[in-house]
Amino acid sequence: MTISASQFAQAYLSKGQLPDLSKLPTGHWINGAFCHSAGSAMESFDPGLGRAFASFSAGTAQDVARAVEAANTALKDWRHSTPEQRSHLLNRMAALLLEDLETLAFFESLDSGKTLTEARGDLRSAANFFAYYASVARTLEGRALPTDAQHMSWTLREPVGVTAHIIPWNYPTSTFARSVAPALAAGCTVVAKPAETTPFTALLMGQLLAKAGLPAGVVNVVTGLGPVVGAALAQHPKVRHITFTGSVQSGVTVAQSAAPHVASLTLELGGKSPLIALSDCNIDTTADAALWAIYSNAGQICSAGSRLVVQRSIHSALLEALVRKTSLLRVGHGLRDLDVGAINSGQQLAKIAGHVDAARARGAAIPVGGHSGADNPLDTGWFYRPTILDDLPHNDPCVQEEIFGPVLAVQVVDDDEEALAAANGTAFGLYAGIFTQDISRALRLARDLDAGQVTINDYWAGGVSVPFGGNKQSGYGREKGQEGLAAYLSTKSISVKV
Ligand code: NAI
Ligand code: MG
Repeated sequence: MTISASQFAQAYLSKGQLPDLSKLPTGHWINGAFCHSAGSAMESFDPGLGRAFASFSAGTAQDVARAVEAANTALKDWRHSTPEQRSHLLNRMAALLLEDLETLAFFESLDSGKTLTEARGDLRSAANFFAYYASVARTLEGRALPTDAQHMSWTLREPVGVTAHIIPWNYPTSTFARSVAPALAAGCTVVAKPAETTPFTALLMGQLLAKAGLPAGVVNVVTGLGPVVGAALAQHPKVRHITFTGSVQSGVTVAQSAAPHVASLTLELGGKSPLIALSDCNIDTTADAALWAIYSNAGQICSAGSRLVVQRSIHSALLEALVRKTSLLRVGHGLRDLDVGAINSGQQLAKIAGHVDAARARGAAIPVGGHSGADNPLDTGWFYRPTILDDLPHNDPCVQEEIFGPVLAVQVVDDDEEALAAANGTAFGLYAGIFTQDISRALRLARDLDAGQVTINDYWAGGVSVPFGGNKQSGYGREKGQEGLAAYLSTKSISVKV
């Protein structure tokens, strides 16, 4: 009988009982087995209580070298696996993730602080990535190229080789799947490094992939600190492509480390994405979308709608609806599964609070939120109340800098031109939402927005088939969809004289 995550959650919250922690691995997943680390142990925290609940390995450069060697050895056969084999295996992985969803979602909620509903969503999305790339794996084809009567030419699309995947803590399972699934579909091998605050699901997914039939060494997982394990991966000359998701600062460091050995990169970095509310939008729908865009995952999302660019004529009506709806949101331990979960770490909470306190000191209006704390006094961990900073100047640090928390910065504009300038007026260019009943206004803005993806009258529309990535300092390269495969393939052209 499957025990639901909610049953685990109840036992944990009421009696402090954890399910069998022996299910949580403590070593790295290298060459098809859990193995001891050359380094020491680290603790992972339950952000809802702010205390450690399990330990894992703080990997070293030596561990990374072992994992890369395993991936390099496994590449010899894996690159010649058939599309059918890869497809079958990825489908099987999708099914196994769904079978284990409740246990994995429980541990992910506990380890990351996200609500159980969000953790289940993250897992379903991970399963969906494996299922999608299972189909795409069968469609890889080269092209026959017209040249001249004396030659025949065509292209092959070959795996780039060993790939590194540096994963953040906000969506540990779906970010892993988003890049590992296409890498496997392309015939690449993988060394993944989960974030130090959410190490477990990546290890468990390594093990599940083996259960799905993946040969040893094709996917390896090394846990530990970014500047140690992540840096060693980025610096390793046998790593041919690195997919990194995280802060701009760490992304730049990774790019610098990869440059000497000319590894290619996909960088999914920060964002300060605008939700643009024009004068003729539906106030209620727009307010609901804005809430979803900024408070999901407690705002810890690179593509969160962290700015509301609103036309002056509807500013007070929309703000009133937003403040009313925001003040109803319940905040608590992820396993209580309320509306907004915990902040992933004490460090992240301090960053959020620091931003809001500085805005307050500058005289910002804060009509709702503006402080930490959960609804239930038993939830003693890291929480921040859903917060709105109203009518900020366009150059305010809370408009320009990524906060990565449940904090919405409101910018008031007079017309579409000013809305566009405000929307494009940061160093980022990841996502944008446009709310209006006028299709021409929407399409003009969609065309001129400097962002990797735009939604109209919705936020985060589009599933696994829709490419995702940033412009400007939000990064480069695209994940998801068929474009998500490109990073893991290189084109070889062959020509024959006839
Ligand atoms: P981070 O960028 O340091 O961490 C992301 C991943 O990179 C983790 O796995 C980490 O271990 C690894 N990493 C860190 N330094 C590295 C290095 N020198 N070489 C290789 N890998 C390295 O982000 P952090 O410190 O956890 O959060 C800071 C801020 O970054 C957040 O407040 C937020 O603004 C942003 N962020 C953005 C994310 C996104 O989805 N784009 C995800 C996580 C954080
Ligand atoms: Mg944790």
